[in-house]
Amino acid sequence: MLDAADETRPFLTELEPTVARLLDRHLAQSKEWFPHELVPWSRGRDFEPGWEWSPDEATLPDEVRSSLFVNLLTEDNLPYYFRTIESAFGRDSAWGEWNRRWTAEEGRHSIVIRDYLTVTRAIDPVTLERARMAQVSCGQVPEPETPHEALVYVSLQELATRIAHHNTGKLLDEPIGYDVMKRVASDENRHYLFYRDLASAGIEIDPSTMMLAIESQVRDFEMPGTGIMDFGTHARAIARAGIYDFLVHYEHILVPVVLRHWGVEGLTGLNDEAERARDALLKRIERIGKAGRRLAARREESAALAESTAQAEPADLVSQSA
Ligand SMILES: [Fe+2]
Ligand SMILES: [Fe+2]
Repeated sequence: MLDAADETRPFLTELEPTVARLLDRHLAQSKEWFPHELVPWSRGRDFEPGWEWSPDEATLPDEVRSSLFVNLLTEDNLPYYFRTIESAFGRDSAWGEWNRRWTAEEGRHSIVIRDYLTVTRAIDPVTLERARMAQVSCGQVPEPETPHEALVYVSLQELATRIAHHNTGKLLDEPIGYDVMKRVASDENRHYLFYRDLASAGIEIDPSTMMLAIESQVRDFEMPGTGIMDFGTHARAIARAGIYDFLVHYEHILVPVVLRHWGVEGLTGLNDEAERARDALLKRIERIGKAGRRLAARREESAALAESTAQAEPADLVSQSA
């Protein structure tokens, strides 16, 4: 990670009026909300000494538990995201003001999700707390190399987080849990809009460097949460549930943001290296779309097979016993 006081300073300075404008827009569009008003406290009770969690505490598919676990631990890792953003963009002016406001909002997310999970007992609080200690102790987060890369990463990551929270909320199958996740997702949406539009302004200032950044961030994109214990297993479960997978990534991020909003295909004024990066980017996006469709189709086939097997079994038993 470069220090913000290096050769990227002119780029950051030129973007500063846009940061101030987008921060004002963000503040005007944000509505104050309180975690305690969304949490169903009446469902909570004391945790007796020696009590041990079991999945029967709350009926939820394992995939949804995985998603809640990863989503909350990602929010818990806020100190390191703050550090990444402050190193990339600096602590002064509207940049610093945005980062501190963003941090305060993200803190609200972990408060509301943890309180919801504690009273509903949807996840083992002991496992969760140990995982939080491990996660924050290891201090691992994606660390984009330059402010250009950071702008692209946070745009994609905030949108990915919004989608993951919202899809998780839908699978909770209860209005209170859905409202918690929806409220968090709507904050993530405003964060995404802030960064997306800031990245657009960055593209106008320095299209070639931004194109290189977009190509490299799409190539290496990972959902936040890479330092979480068993992250790979949880990420596969989250994909299995269709909460966040290649197809979602392609249809809801790469196409609407990278192709349509940033309009990478039609960008002009690129140097040779950026032209080559654009070619590679477009090919990669196409490949991700194809892989996403193939994997989603395969998952649907195995789900249909599992369902037909489950339906066939009782009949088979009847015919065998007749
Ligand atoms: Fe968040
Ligand atoms: Fe966010």
